[in-house]
Order: sequence, then C-alpha cells, then structure tokens
Amino acid sequence: MLTLRSVGKTFSNGVVALRDVDLDIREGDFVSLLGPSGCGKSTALRLIAGLGTPTAGVLDWRGAGFSGRGNIGFVFQEPTLLPWANVFDNVWLPLKLRGVSRRAAEPAIREMLDRVHLTGFEKAVPRELSGGMKMRVSIARGLVTKPKILLMDEPFAALDEITRFKLNNDLLELWQDERFTVVFVTHSVFESVFLSTRIVVMAARPGRIHSEIAVDAPYPRDEAFRTSVEYAALCRQASQVLVDAMHLAPGDPYDGH
Ligand SMILES: Nc1ncnc2c1ncn2[C@@H]1O[C@H](COP(=O)(O)OP(=O)(O)O)[C@@H](O)[C@H]1O
Ligand SMILES: [Mg+2]
Repeated sequence: MLTLRSVGKTFSNGVVALRDVDLDIREGDFVSLLGPSGCGKSTALRLIAGLGTPTAGVLDWRGAGFSGRGNIGFVFQEPTLLPWANVFDNVWLPLKLRGVSRRAAEPAIREMLDRVHLTGFEKAVPRELSGGMKMRVSIARGLVTKPKILLMDEPFAALDEITRFKLNNDLLELWQDERFTVVFVTHSVFESVFLSTRIVVMAARPGRIHSEIAVDAPYPRDEAFRTSVEYAALCRQASQVLVDAMHLAPGDPYDGH
C-alpha cells in the first residue's frame, strides 16, 4: 500500500526527527510504531498523513490503488472533539467538510456510532462523556469516511488500563470486520503486542527504525490471549528488543508508560 524509502525529517531548528526510514505498509496490516518518547513516531505518522513533507526520501503510495491522501483517517491522543457540538455532529464533521449533508450522512454516522457502542449518545456533548467515550467518538469520526488506512497516535495513552483494554478489544473487532489498514503509535509494549501484526521498534536521536517484530499470534485476540503464556512470551521478546533499541542494560527500569 505504502512504502517509505530513506525517509528523513530534519526540522528547521536542526532536530533530526527521522533518519533513513525504510518501511513497507501492506494492505490489511496492523502496524505499531513502538519506541521511547522523542524517537519520531508522531513525525512519521504526520508524514504519512501528509501533514508535513519529508526533507529526504520519498513516500510511495503507488501500491495503494488510490490517491493516498483523501483516504486516510486520523485519531490523535487528544480526542479533539468540537466542544459545542454533540456526538452526532462531531462524527459528521469529516463528511460535512466533504460537502455531505447531515441527512445524507446520517446512515453512515449511525452505523459508526453503533460500531463503537455509542448508540443512544448522539445528543450528548463532549463534556458529558468519559475519556473512553470521547475516544470512541474520535474513532467513529476517523472511520466514518471509510478510509483505507487509519493512523492512530497514542490514542489510548491517557486512558485508564481497563478502558484501554476495552478499546483495544473493540478496535481489533472493527479492524477485523472492516479490513482497513492501521498504523498505530504507542510506547506500550503490551498494547503493541496485543494489537499488531507487526511491530516496528524505533530508536531516538536520531529517530530511526531499530528493527521489526512479526507478531504471529492468530486473531481474534481477546481476553484469553491477553492472559496467555504466548502473549507473555511475545511481550518479553518485544521488551527485550525495545531495551536494546534504547541501549539500556537488561533489568534497567523501563516503564511502558
Ligand atoms: N515541529 C517541530 N519542530 C522542531 N522539532 C520537532 C517538531 N516536532 C517534533 N520535533 C522533535 O522531533 C523529535 C521527534 O518528535 P516526535 O515525532 O514527536 O517523537 P515521538 O512522537 O516519538 O515522541 C523530538 O526531538 C521532537 O522534539
Ligand atoms: Mg508522539
């Protein structure tokens, strides 16, 4: 779908946020970018989203069969909802920006709200919602245009663990049903292993790809997987790689959050 070739990003203040990034994203992938803060995860995601241009290398969408940019959904860590607009209208927004009337958009909006388990909350405004519910609205808004690729930048980092687990489960269910491609930024080993088909481990200063881990566990992944020996082993493997990427001695403290 998308290939990054020798992609670099140096900001005008001289910070090398990314150097020599080579990455293939295949249709249907669930790819996590895993790494410590400052390793260029958000920068990479923003380049993929077309929010900024690389200072070196190229992004090649030729494999996608669509003209990249228009077909991307984006979900940020902050749900970034319009505070004065209700849930329904927040999800309508990307369609409205494409000139789709409220009435014409209604079936798609209702379907998405159903998919994220928010039916009945159409008229609620953001301040009436919990953090997890706001994130559900944000996901519905990101998917309402039926994008081929969904970019998520630490979407669940601010949520409590129980809510995060629930949203991880629901996101995987959506992904399995709709078969969009996901690029998911996280600094949680546990989250990346639970969700991904592949984990791209990044290192900082300069931001770069350290290595890739294939997560070969089958889907659906559910609570049974989360408590399995297999999951624990995969998490240990990924932690080890991350420690290596961070040049820490094994046993040094690394808190996934
Ligand atoms: N607009 C910017 N101008 C200058 N430096 C930036 C800008 N955005 C990010 N950086 C720097 O680039 C590096 C990578 O940032 P970022 O992609 O946000 O990392 P991550 O998302 O992995 O935490 C950091 O050192 C950050 O300070
Ligand atoms: Mg970031």
